[in-house]
Amino acid sequence: MTTRRRGFLQTLGTLALGSAVPAPLFAQQGKVKIGLMLPYTGTFAQLGVAITNGFKLAVAEEGGKLGGREIDYVTLDDESDPSKAADRANQLVTRDRVDVLVGTVHSGVQMGIVKIARESGVLHIIPNAGVAAATGELCAPNIFRTSFANAQTTYPMGKVLVDRKVKNVVTLTWKYAAGEEAVAGFRDSFTKGGGNIVKELWLPFPNVEFQSLLTEIASLKPDAVFVFFAGGGAAKFLRDYQAAGLKGRIPLYGSGFLTDGILEAAGDAAEGVETTLHYGDGLETPRNNAFRVAYVRAYKIAPDVYAVQGYDAGLLLAAGMRAVKGDIGRKKEIIAAMEKAEIDSPRGKWKMSRAHNPVQDMYLRKVTNKENKVTGVAIKALDYPPASACKMPG
Ligand code: PHB
Repeated sequence: MTTRRRGFLQTLGTLALGSAVPAPLFAQQGKVKIGLMLPYTGTFAQLGVAITNGFKLAVAEEGGKLGGREIDYVTLDDESDPSKAADRANQLVTRDRVDVLVGTVHSGVQMGIVKIARESGVLHIIPNAGVAAATGELCAPNIFRTSFANAQTTYPMGKVLVDRKVKNVVTLTWKYAAGEEAVAGFRDSFTKGGGNIVKELWLPFPNVEFQSLLTEIASLKPDAVFVFFAGGGAAKFLRDYQAAGLKGRIPLYGSGFLTDGILEAAGDAAEGVETTLHYGDGLETPRNNAFRVAYVRAYKIAPDVYAVQGYDAGLLLAAGMRAVKGDIGRKKEIIAAMEKAEIDSPRGKWKMSRAHNPVQDMYLRKVTNKENKVTGVAIKALDYPPASACKMPG
């Protein structure tokens, strides 16, 4: 195109906008584009759906708008496949031009998204994946998490078992970042308190062939078993643990993902299992009850921890957008408002650490009559791994 012709088209564009309307105001009146990059297929499919539902419920409660602006959603199934993650995130930012990128569930996929978020500077909210680096050595002003760091959910369980004088434990999980960090958090508090890890067992993600590992556990005869599993894999593990005759013989513990969102699928096999997590569906507070009623009314299904994390991502973005009256271009001010926000969450009120990860109470829960009943607070206001791992770029 010649320079003259380009100049002509630019003039036409300006005329079309109308000279009385300043361009920024015009931009502000359009929809805000939000990319939802989540798993909608595979073992974490229902986690992606719950996060999407929770996010949209928060927006609906704001009258369907954030900072007065309507929302346009672009959804993309990440299949929990790390090998395609960076390309997919880049597609949302570069081709679809999303203003905000929300995702994801799987820690390996998250690393690909974090790379693109850091390179592009797009405003990014993580509604689940707990990989430490995202709010640790790779922390950035535009990256926020409304869920947890993997080890944050398991460190409290090590302490619980030390207090109960449990001595010998076998751990079992998927061999990928989330599993490794979950076991590391448990190991840290458990061994510091004098506990002994007899053996660490692993299987590749998302493999659910547990049989030979259960046979090995039976022959090791530990005092307890500690696991990290989630989604469809968690339900199958609980059923297999019972079928192998281990339930009731060797107490089973885990982070709360083991029993969240899968209580119908697991049936009897989940009853009595104790876990630690930043939420419990049986949390008896007016805030949680109101959320649960609204969620069931909207989706005809009970919410779980993933729904809460998606909902809180919506609340966080609402706080940012309110501060700038919907002017998504004022990113520094949005970030400042999100850093300061106190999130009135169904899990209890919480705020961001300086690394942009929630500082939050970790509950002890016990599955009772198909509900994760909260039996106590294992650790209050936990910031772990400590935010000091993050050297926030200026
Ligand atoms: C993760 O990969 O970070 C992950 C996945 C599912 C969970 C928790 C953590 O429930």
